[in-house]
Amino acid sequence: MEKKTIRDIDTKELRGKKILVRCDFNVPLKDGEITDDTRIRAALPTIRYLLESGAKVVLCSHLGRPKGEVNEKYSMKPVAERLSEELDAKVKCAEDVTGPSAKDMANELKEGEAGLLENVRFDPREEKNEESLAIELADLIGNEGIYVNDAFGTAHRAHASTEGVAHHVDESVAGLLMEREIEKLGAVLEKPEEPFVAILGGAKVSDKIGVIENLMQKVQTIEIGGAMANTFLKAKGYDIGSSKYEEDKIEVAKQIMKDALNKGVEIILPKDARVAKIAEGEELTPETVESAEHKNVKLNVEGKGESLEGWQILDVGDTTLTYFADRLENAKTVVWNGPVGLFEFDQFAIGTNAIAKVLSEIDATTIIGGGDSAAAVKKAGLQDKMTHISTGGGASLEFLEGKKLPGIECLLDK
Ligand code: 3PG
Repeated sequence: MEKKTIRDIDTKELRGKKILVRCDFNVPLKDGEITDDTRIRAALPTIRYLLESGAKVVLCSHLGRPKGEVNEKYSMKPVAERLSEELDAKVKCAEDVTGPSAKDMANELKEGEAGLLENVRFDPREEKNEESLAIELADLIGNEGIYVNDAFGTAHRAHASTEGVAHHVDESVAGLLMEREIEKLGAVLEKPEEPFVAILGGAKVSDKIGVIENLMQKVQTIEIGGAMANTFLKAKGYDIGSSKYEEDKIEVAKQIMKDALNKGVEIILPKDARVAKIAEGEELTPETVESAEHKNVKLNVEGKGESLEGWQILDVGDTTLTYFADRLENAKTVVWNGPVGLFEFDQFAIGTNAIAKVLSEIDATTIIGGGDSAAAVKKAGLQDKMTHISTGGGASLEFLEGKKLPGIECLLDK
């Protein structure tokens, strides 16, 4: 069922109304400076639309995980400053979430003005989805107020500002970012053009089981890289040296490969890899990774070929990339979630960059899950070449698993 959005409300109705907009302004900070403002910029279309309609916009978000306590390190003030720059108008930041400062700020807003509440996770009731906080948030905008959820990245959390508040406001609708995320991610689950290829990477099989199970019903090919591929390789009896893998997910990996075979879904695992001489248990720090000897090797069944003892697989190799690219070049839909190597380090970002490049060149719908895959595409400078890069990490993963997200479910249907 499609969700009602701000565009479904007559703009005349928005004029002068107080609107509570839940955004995901959970941006990375270093020494109090925002290091990536993608999520702030992604929320601007909704904010601008509401401001231009003459609404009084009360923005709110979480930032980091302050665990229900006030912690200046996670204050929304830098976000308010960045918003003021982007909107070319002062966006005030309240001193609290629903206290006197927030109330004054909401009451003093004029038509076409926006203000930001302090970090909703400073209030211990937020993550517990306590009704008292949901009511206080709804009270900030009064009886006539409208709740807009534009925080796709937090839609998998049933918190007071992402879910609870919707039950205390007459009209709860999606913002433009939320609408776009649902449309783009929803389309690949509902009517993907074939061939449909999923590229899955990242550290753990356990994080991706749900996605694999759901996508298995829809894709023709699954390409697996990253440390999660090691568990599959181990399950097939391959020598993975000292590489990280999940011993307790070996059986799951075997089952997934069996299911894929039964369904006629092709799973492509690495055939070769870039490995570094890092002993088991030794931490992967910039120092250990940079100074380690590394090479490209063919992967073999345990006991056959060159032994990988003392080596760790940190990226897919060139032969693997040829196989991956071959399927991608014919694909009409591609979903990518998780880097295929330790992309933070240039020498092990080769596979991830190569995939980003292939995706930027093919004639297909390319959907990039948020989090690390989005960061990898940005690092490769190819973000404008993709059909859609999700702003949600965990949220996009749960969406692709086919789960219902509470921050979406609570909104009115069209
Ligand atoms: C994210 O960064 O994925 C979202 O903002 C959700 O944050 P959380 O994992 O702390 O709930």
